[in-house]
Amino acid sequence: ILSGGPSSVYEDGAPRCGPRLLRSGLPILGICYGHQLIAHMLGGAVRPGKVREYGRATLKVDDKEDLFAGLRDDETVWMSHWDQVVALPDGFETIGHTDACPIAAYRCRGRKIYAIQFHPEVRHTVRGLLVLRNFVYNVCGCRPTWTMANFAQEAIRGVRDRVGDGRVLMAVSGGVDSTVAATLIHRAIGDRLHCVFIDNGLLREGEADEARRLFADLNLEHFHSVDAGDLFLSRLKGVVDPEEKRRAIAFSFADVLERKAQELAAEYGDIEFLGQGTTYPDRIETAMTSAVSAKIKSHHNVILLKRLRLRPVEPIASLFKDEVRRLGKELGLPDDVIHKHPFPGPALAVRVLGEVTKRKLAILRKADGIVEEEIRRAGLYRGLWQAFAILLPIKSVGVMGDLRTYDHVVAIRAVRSMDAMTADWAKLPYQVLQRISSRIINEVEGVNRVVYDISSKPPSTIEWE
Ligand code: XMP
Repeated sequence: ILSGGPSSVYEDGAPRCGPRLLRSGLPILGICYGHQLIAHMLGGAVRPGKVREYGRATLKVDDKEDLFAGLRDDETVWMSHWDQVVALPDGFETIGHTDACPIAAYRCRGRKIYAIQFHPEVRHTVRGLLVLRNFVYNVCGCRPTWTMANFAQEAIRGVRDRVGDGRVLMAVSGGVDSTVAATLIHRAIGDRLHCVFIDNGLLREGEADEARRLFADLNLEHFHSVDAGDLFLSRLKGVVDPEEKRRAIAFSFADVLERKAQELAAEYGDIEFLGQGTTYPDRIETAMTSAVSAKIKSHHNVILLKRLRLRPVEPIASLFKDEVRRLGKELGLPDDVIHKHPFPGPALAVRVLGEVTKRKLAILRKADGIVEEEIRRAGLYRGLWQAFAILLPIKSVGVMGDLRTYDHVVAIRAVRSMDAMTADWAKLPYQVLQRISSRIINEVEGVNRVVYDISSKPPSTIEWE
């Protein structure tokens, strides 16, 4: 698949593929820029654009035999381009057009080359997924034999091959990614897996106990829990800048794990591998600012690998979150874990804006507990990507009884999302917001105002930091 991109084929340095690829006989799908590039490289013509076609367009489907099988005559598609293909290479034919774009899709069956100007991967292209599916099944001739059960078996075998008779150290959080990864590794190598849960003192109400219970239920031979709250808090003293906070936390984490690794090595023998719950989005490097957290996460993992001089074992690195959840179900993990909202590594430290102190953490924990409870009670938990409270670094005036108060402001954030790359703020029912707000103000000492975050990502992010 030669994908889209902002370049024009006429620009210096515009990305190209080697010409041999187009003669290789491999099935090829060009999308947007790829659509123009193929035409340009094979002797068709691309007209530099003066006006941009952007937004929804109606694709007139001219042929439904392979790439467009199952489509209607008129399909809503998403366009975003300046240049356009105006003449096809010899032997190619048009299979779709729009009013503004006479060659919106073309193919050369004999060479298995297909190309589309629109974006099949965005939601606004109503049957875009069907187009991609048609390419994979009808053009490439693949069969849908990829199932979670097969995946689990292969992943377990993969871990076994990689680790041999070595040992794996793994930091686990109780979140779905690390729990699924640890379960796979455990099924592969049994008691040669050492899981370490680090209580950094920045967790949510009851979370550390929950994680310990979960791992007790999973019957791991080696589960170690380390209480390191004081260390993390002391390293965070006086730190206000979010990047510095993250650094302080990442280094504290590495220090604690390193010490534990040495202890374990002394007791059980050398450990060569580090198990990690890295997922596919963690690895995607994009220019979007929304990938910042993925980069930070991967940076954090790299620090650990280097410091501990271990080799990574990442059995779910090709999966998206919804797939990790399906795999968790396949492995028989409890529903609570499978559907748990994502929670950032630096934990509540990124939700206490400004300096993190014990008192602020206590306030936030209580407020956050109320948010989660009310969201669950309203039956909204599973439909949301995340819902949580943030403690703002400002105070505002209020009145309680006859007394003037000057207390903290808590913000509530609830978002819907597929993969955290983009997110919509959730239109929570007013009654739910009302209950959350009055319960926080009544029950959490030190808070006299609650606000709701109505920003989407981008341009905002999910966390406030
Ligand atoms: P943002 O705030 O960038 O967050 O929109 C996207 C997703 O990533 C989570 N997140 C993190 N996860 N370490 C993590 O493990 C981090 O430093 C971090 N920062 C953000 C966030 O909760 C959201 O799901």
